[in-house]
Amino acid sequence: MEEFNSTCHNGLFDKYSDMTVNKHILLGISGGIAAYKSAELVRLLRKQGVEVRVVMTQSAMQFVSPLTFQALSGNPVHSELLDADEENAMGHISLARWADLLIIAPATANTLAKFSHGLADDLLSTLYLAATCPVYVAPAMNQAMWNKAVTQENIAMLRRHGVSLIGPEPGDQACGETGFGRLSEPVDICRHLLQALDLEQASTTRCLQGMKVLISAGPTREPLDPVRYITNRSSGKMGYALADAALQAGAEVTLVSGPVNLPAPANIRLVKVETAAQMYGAVISRASDHGIYIGAAAVADYSPAVTEPEKIKKQAEQSTIILQKTRDILAAVAQLDKRPFTVGFAAETHDLEAYALDKLTRKNLDMIAANWVGQEQGGFDSEQNALQVFWKNGQKNLSMTDKKLLAEQLIALIAERLHQEQ
Ligand code: PMT
Repeated sequence: MEEFNSTCHNGLFDKYSDMTVNKHILLGISGGIAAYKSAELVRLLRKQGVEVRVVMTQSAMQFVSPLTFQALSGNPVHSELLDADEENAMGHISLARWADLLIIAPATANTLAKFSHGLADDLLSTLYLAATCPVYVAPAMNQAMWNKAVTQENIAMLRRHGVSLIGPEPGDQACGETGFGRLSEPVDICRHLLQALDLEQASTTRCLQGMKVLISAGPTREPLDPVRYITNRSSGKMGYALADAALQAGAEVTLVSGPVNLPAPANIRLVKVETAAQMYGAVISRASDHGIYIGAAAVADYSPAVTEPEKIKKQAEQSTIILQKTRDILAAVAQLDKRPFTVGFAAETHDLEAYALDKLTRKNLDMIAANWVGQEQGGFDSEQNALQVFWKNGQKNLSMTDKKLLAEQLIALIAERLHQEQ
C-alpha cells in the first residue's frame, strides 16, 4: 500500500485514491445552508480511503437529500433514532462503536446547545452521548448567533468535555452579513480529520531537518516606573506553538520570549526578555546565525521616553506620558547582510490584506502571516487562530483552527517556500 504524506507538502488530495486505510468516520450533518459542503467532505474522505457513514438530522434533510450522501459514501444514510430495521443492524450504539471519529459538519447552534447540555432527542444527539471516540465539531451559523454569549458558553463547555473545534471562519455569510460563522472549507476539515487519525502529518515530518530557527513570542513590557508598565494582550501561544512545530519538523529552535505564563518547551533554547529593547538585542545578536526568523512577538511600537526610578505619585487630574518609537526588530533582521528567511506577522483590526502587503514590501520580508485581532475569536490570547499568509506573488489562507495545528501548517508553508527559493 502507498504511504501517506511523507513531506511537509499540503496538497495531498489528488494523490491517493482507490485504497482503504481501515478507518471509520461518522459524519453528522445538522440543518444549515452549509450542509451542501459536507458532500465534498465525504468525497475527499473517501478519496483518502476512509470509510464514511452519514447521520442527518431532520432539518439537514430539508437542505440536502440523503440520497446525495448515500451515493457519495456508498452507505445508507441514518436519520431515525428508533428504526425497527436498524436496531438489529446499525442501531445508535453499534454506529457509535463503529466510528473511529465523530465529526459534525455543519454543527448548528442548536446541535451544539444540545450536545453541551446532554440532550438526546434524535439520532445525532444520542450518538454524541454514546460516542467514546474523539469528537470534532465544525460550526456554521450566522455571526450574531455565533457571538451570542450562550453559544460561546456552550462551546467552552464542549471544549472542557474534550470536543475539538474546526472553525468557524470569518467572511461573508449566506445571510448577507459578515463575521465569524462560515463553515471551514471541506479540504481543511478533511486535513484536520486525517491528522487526527494519524493519516496525515502536517509538518511533523522532518521538513526543517538541520535548520536553525529563531522565533520571537509573547508581548513586551515597557516600564513607566518600578511598578507599572505598558503591554498588550499577547499570550505567547502562537509563538510557542510555532517553536514546537519547528522542533517537530527537525529544526534547532531558539525562542526569544517576552513575559508569558506558558511552560518552557523542552529541547528548545529559551531566551527570556522583558522589553522591546531587550528583545531587539536578543534577536539581532542571533539572527545571522539562523536560517529562519519568525517574528510572532507583539513588540511594543512605543515605550515611555523616561522610566521613572520611583513610583509615580497620583497628583494632577490628568497626566501625560511621552512615548518614543522602539526599534523595529523585524525590519532590522531583514536588513542584515547575512539575513535569515524572514517571516513577519501582521496583527490588524481592519484592512488586513492591505496592511500585511504594505509590511511585506516596506520591511523587505520573505513572508508575512496576517491575523485579525480585537475580534471575539482568533488573534490574541485565544486557543485558535486563522492566518492569511502572503509572499511575493503568492498567498495562502490557513483557516481557523487550534494554534498548534495552525503552527504546523505555517511551518510546512515556510519550509515549502524556503525550499522553492533555494
Ligand atoms: O501571543 P498570542 O496570544 O498567541 O497571539 C498571537 C499574536 C496575535 C500576537 C500573533 O499571531 C501576532 O500577530 N504577532 C505579531 C503582533 C504584532 O506586533 O503585529 P504588528 O502588525 O504590530 O507588527 C508587525 C511585525 O513587526 C510583527 O512580526 C512584529 O513582531 C514586528 N515588530 C513590531 C514592532 C517592533 N518594534 N519590532 C518588530 O519586530
